[in-house]
Amino acid sequence: MDTLEKGNRKINEFSDQKSLFVELAKDFIHRAKKAVESKGEFMVVLSGGNTPKLFFDVLINQNSQFEKIPWQQIKFFFCDERYVPLDNKESNYHMAYEHLFSKVPILPGNIYRIPTEYSDSKDAAQKYERTLRTIFRLKNTEYPQFDVCYLGLGEDGHTASLMPLSHVVAEYSKGSSTIKKEFYQLVMQVSMPEQNLHRITLTPSAINHSNTIIFIAIGANKASAVFKVLEGSYEPGLYPAQLINPISGQTIWYLDSEAAGRLK
Ligand code: 6PG
Repeated sequence: MDTLEKGNRKINEFSDQKSLFVELAKDFIHRAKKAVESKGEFMVVLSGGNTPKLFFDVLINQNSQFEKIPWQQIKFFFCDERYVPLDNKESNYHMAYEHLFSKVPILPGNIYRIPTEYSDSKDAAQKYERTLRTIFRLKNTEYPQFDVCYLGLGEDGHTASLMPLSHVVAEYSKGSSTIKKEFYQLVMQVSMPEQNLHRITLTPSAINHSNTIIFIAIGANKASAVFKVLEGSYEPGLYPAQLINPISGQTIWYLDSEAAGRLK
């Protein structure tokens, strides 16, 4: 593993995917044990898509460490969700259930999925926002402090469901010295009918207050997005992952050599 640190950002590059996910699993176990020892719980945000499947499969197979993971003190949240029924194979909850939740002794009450049962997805976003504010005992101008937020990266530079040219990304890309109400919002609905895309996502504000943000990107098809997000000009409207900058935490990138292929 090659590591490059610059400010509050660390880039870990791996020659192969297996060693990346083994290291990621060991890091998860270390973080979980440390958080539970210090505060009795570990608040972790999962991302969706396909990459987490590889992570979860390796985590489950870390048998030597498995029984030491304080599963019953871990609370799971999601960075985004496709607005589909729970049993739909596109559902991020469904993916996490199949690859993780159904295989470990976690408390079902500690899984905070993004609801997709409301006829209006705006209601679902508001419901999840209330859930976060309740769990973290937040006032309206406060943000949750997740211990770790795992994020993927789309080939177009999106992360979570912060899609290029979407309303939420446009709002945050304008930048503003005055904190607008959108900046206090933790959860937003993303609808882009022209792309048949209906999602719920954490906002950059909700993500950026995490103690640690971990991006995972593998494969040559991500090399361009990785380069543009990390070394390109600041264009968050086009590359929304650039909106992710932890307020006081650290960002760690886990890249295989293919995804890191265009980095200097
Ligand atoms: C989602 C994710 C999304 C994902 C990237 C990468 O709901 O799809 O949250 O942001 O992390 O699109 O997806 P892959 O891991 O499938 O490449």
